[in-house]
Amino acid sequence: MQPIDVTSQVWERLLAVRQGTSCTCCGGWTPGEDAALALYGPLARRDLGPVTVAQIGQSLDGRIATVTGDARDVSGPDGLAHLHRMRALVDGVAIGVRTALHDTPRLTVRLCQGRNPARIVIDPRGRLPDDAPVLRADGARRIVVQATDRPRPEGVEVIRLPVRGDLLDPQEILAALREAGLSSVMIEGGGITISRFLEAGLLTRLQVAVAPLLIGAGQQSLTMPSPTESLSDALRPETRVYSLGSDVVFDCALSPTAQAASRPLHDAPQSVSGS
Ligand SMILES: NC(=O)c1ccc[n+]([C@@H]2O[C@H](COP(=O)([O-])OP(=O)(O)OC[C@H]3O[C@@H](n4cnc5c(N)ncnc54)[C@H](OP(=O)(O)O)[C@@H]3O)[C@@H](O)[C@H]2O)c1
Repeated sequence: MQPIDVTSQVWERLLAVRQGTSCTCCGGWTPGEDAALALYGPLARRDLGPVTVAQIGQSLDGRIATVTGDARDVSGPDGLAHLHRMRALVDGVAIGVRTALHDTPRLTVRLCQGRNPARIVIDPRGRLPDDAPVLRADGARRIVVQATDRPRPEGVEVIRLPVRGDLLDPQEILAALREAGLSSVMIEGGGITISRFLEAGLLTRLQVAVAPLLIGAGQQSLTMPSPTESLSDALRPETRVYSLGSDVVFDCALSPTAQAASRPLHDAPQSVSGS
């Protein structure tokens, strides 16, 4: 397990990589800074093509919320800072409507320097109220993916998709988001939404951040709609493990591109050079 050290120089470099004005390979870095660049570099880089990353923060016993749905402090302070860094590096952050209703998140970047991503809520039946914090006008794009005709507040973009069976097709959701100009998207929860993208084979990376607490019962983390019956069929992604400080993150590369991007930085191909 590698401890990460996100110094201000590392973070400035990652923001420059996101803008396409720098690379992740040059420079003299400490081992902790190198580890931070290895963790965040594949999300900051735009030369690797579209990225769909999911990140979930869970307890040691695999819960993402208590029995009453309290999820605010599952992640420790460094897990939260990590989440805000991830938000700052992607074009858009998507959540399921149950998370939007339970947690009333803002999905903004507050714990590090960086731009607010577009905010996306998957709300097939139109349950999200117009005054939800996630829809507040603050300059960031706000997008609702829905199957109904429900009108939304001014400035909120609506992606209307058909229901297939009982669901919106995750592939159609992703294609519509790409069409809307969002190349890198983070699925931030909850477990239901992430599991559907995972099972559809649409995730480039999956990050599971584990915090050292035991909740005992409550909302499960990832639960696949069609679970494997035999361990020999279980997904065993190429995984790197990082200490964030208060929490530990398992960074799983689910696609060949993600696996290539996880190679040591100096070995990875870069289309942009210089610093
Ligand atoms: N610890 C963490 O990292 C974390 C992160 C996020 C959330 N949470 C917690 O997790 C809980 C909520 O998560 P959850 O797993 O229950 O729900 P969720 O994933 O937030 O939302 C699921 C709902 O979103 C809609 N949806 C998502 N994908 C869809 C698709 N492909 N097709 C159709 N509808 C789709 C459906 O809405 P309808 O129900 O309207 O059909 C579905 O029931 C809360 O307690 C929250 O606090 C924890």
